[in-house]
Amino acid sequence: MDKQTLEAMFSPEAFNASGHALIDILSRYLSDNLEGKGPVLDWQPPAQAMEQWQAALPRQATLTSGQLLKAIQDEILSASLHIHHPRNLGHQVATPLPMAALCDLVAALTNQAMAVYETGPSATLLERQVLHWLGELIGWQRAEGVLTSGGAQANLTALLAARQVKAGWDAWQHGVGAGQPLRLLTSEHAHYSVSRAAGIMGLGTDAVVKIAADDQGRMDMAALQSAWQHCLDQGSKPFAVAATAGCTPTGSIDPLPEIANFCRTHDLWMHVDGAHGASALLSRQHRPLLEGIAMADSVVWDGHKLLYMPATVSAVLFREPQHGYAAFAQEASYLFQGNNNAEETYNTSYRTLECTKRMMGLKLWAAFSLYGTEKLGGLVDQVFATARLLAEKLHAAPDFELLMMPQTNIVCFRYGKEDQMLIRKKLVESGAFHLTQVAMHGKVWLRTTVMNPFTAEEDLDALLAAIREHGISSSGIL
Ligand SMILES: Cc1ncc(COP(=O)(O)O)c(C=O)c1O
Repeated sequence: MDKQTLEAMFSPEAFNASGHALIDILSRYLSDNLEGKGPVLDWQPPAQAMEQWQAALPRQATLTSGQLLKAIQDEILSASLHIHHPRNLGHQVATPLPMAALCDLVAALTNQAMAVYETGPSATLLERQVLHWLGELIGWQRAEGVLTSGGAQANLTALLAARQVKAGWDAWQHGVGAGQPLRLLTSEHAHYSVSRAAGIMGLGTDAVVKIAADDQGRMDMAALQSAWQHCLDQGSKPFAVAATAGCTPTGSIDPLPEIANFCRTHDLWMHVDGAHGASALLSRQHRPLLEGIAMADSVVWDGHKLLYMPATVSAVLFREPQHGYAAFAQEASYLFQGNNNAEETYNTSYRTLECTKRMMGLKLWAAFSLYGTEKLGGLVDQVFATARLLAEKLHAAPDFELLMMPQTNIVCFRYGKEDQMLIRKKLVESGAFHLTQVAMHGKVWLRTTVMNPFTAEEDLDALLAAIREHGISSSGIL
């Protein structure tokens, strides 16, 4: 390759010029979305949309950097789900803080591999700093953990540690077949990543015992007791209870103090999947919802949900620092020097599935530093209050059925006797709102997650009106 081409590909001047132009585009995009301009989603069926993405493999450049920016603006941004739009009420995905997005640019350009300390010194230290802050919010002074790419991986990491500590034999080395059949107890509303972890861990998804929830979506303690007893009667060994703090369907929080006592009485690992709800710890008002979380052995907390981070960043935290090493016990002498010396603890790979991973701590460190727990907690308060307002409106409306008052920010409801799936489809395809659906108690419910602190009362009123309109038209009355 000639030097001129090489220098052009890595040109700091071109990076600077394109970077400024890109920030201009993104700032306009952000501003338009926050103001709710245009649809939430410009819906196109995927097979139809895919027709635009059939280009031949470029052997030579096909775009200038100016054309690339234009394509980002015209083709990529416009065909995105507009996450900052106040009428985006779909999934539990953060409306990311713009400054955190800038930090992700730093992570991308510096590309700190992070497997070992020397491949990302500042990234490693930032990660430890934010993990200690999150641990402190849980109520732990000495917690250790790791940041992972997502809550699913964080749950797997925690449950691997649980298996290693509570199985009664070295399941990492000798495998799961070397002892009694292991059982994992979790709510019927647990995220699918819990069952998936059991599959990955070689326990088999049948090893996951689903515990019934009460009508508020919280794990039923009597059902937990009898499921545990049933496991013993069958000669299997329950090793952990995976509680959920903010379950995916309804945002409900399992009774953490009771589960903690149960786990202590029966020598079980207590895991709390707080991917969604752990951020309530930031809020003075809602912190009591998570009473008992400090008694857990491990907690998962997603940054890219109610901590307002761009995806992905999740934390898995362990109350006992040494348990952070229980999940993965392999040796890789070319990475690790061994000898149990204190410096080894700075090598992240001991504690994570990923070898190379992104610098994820910077954006969290920046958010805590810029806004403190006060303002981050304020975001949680805001969206919880909006969700409650929506629930109150639905409760008061005779043509709507509210599943339950939200404990966090997820509100599930039905409109009349209409086909809820059809209503949702029409709403999403119209671009007016983005919302999801969930099956509970043998019925399909519309499901809204209020993530955007800019969602206002007028948006909620407009949602009810749009559902009525689409609901009535889908029943054939209009
Ligand atoms: C309760 C819960 N746990 C875990 C996950 C998985 O997290 P992630 O999507 O970050 O992998 C989710 C995702 O929505 C969730 O709601």
